[in-house]
Amino acid sequence: MPVFDKNSGNLTGLIIKVDMKILKKIVILLIIVLIGIQFVPTTYNTSNEVLETDFTKIYNAPQNIKNLLKTSCYDCHSNNTNYPWYSKIQPGAWFMENHINEGKEELNFNTFGEYSGRRKKSKLKSIISQIRDDEMPIASYALVHRDAKLSEEDKAMITKWLNNIRENLK
Ligand code: HEC
Repeated sequence: MPVFDKNSGNLTGLIIKVDMKILKKIVILLIIVLIGIQFVPTTYNTSNEVLETDFTKIYNAPQNIKNLLKTSCYDCHSNNTNYPWYSKIQPGAWFMENHINEGKEELNFNTFGEYSGRRKKSKLKSIISQIRDDEMPIASYALVHRDAKLSEEDKAMITKWLNNIRENLK
């Protein structure tokens, strides 16, 4: 049980006396590492190409749906990520790179038109449930990208539109 010693200002029984020299060294080392990792090359996910196979194109999405998907999903599920300044700084860029690689592997809105009928159906189903259950956009991302978080109205509107497409898929 630690006891506070008024005379020394220390909690006896706990090692709390931090050696300032060591602390200084740790801070300097951290700064060096942070600067150093800025030079590690990262691949950025950017492309200006507008593909005919794009999800919003093949299903003729109205502008408001297009905007929602672009703002909330396309950063990780398309060939073009909109990088804010803080995601270009390491280690932010690595987090983003990981999410993009994993996200695109599961679902790429730009190439949706290339998917088989079966895959389209199953992906649509999973897109709807991910939005409905607040699984997507990923929480850590939505925390930083405030505009990506979907409101209840956004969710209702987009799932209605998506359900309609799903029902019309042969
Ligand atoms: C920060 C990056 C990021 C954003 C933004 C994002 N996703 Fe994802 N998404 C991922 C990652 C990573 C995975 C794969 C791992 C997982 O399921 O958590 C994934 C998986 C999915 C899956 C699962 C695919 C499957 O077949 O099971 C769907 C569907 C999906 N996302 C839809 C969306 C939708 C819709 C949005 C926008 C509302 C969105 N995502 C926004 C990164 C993201």
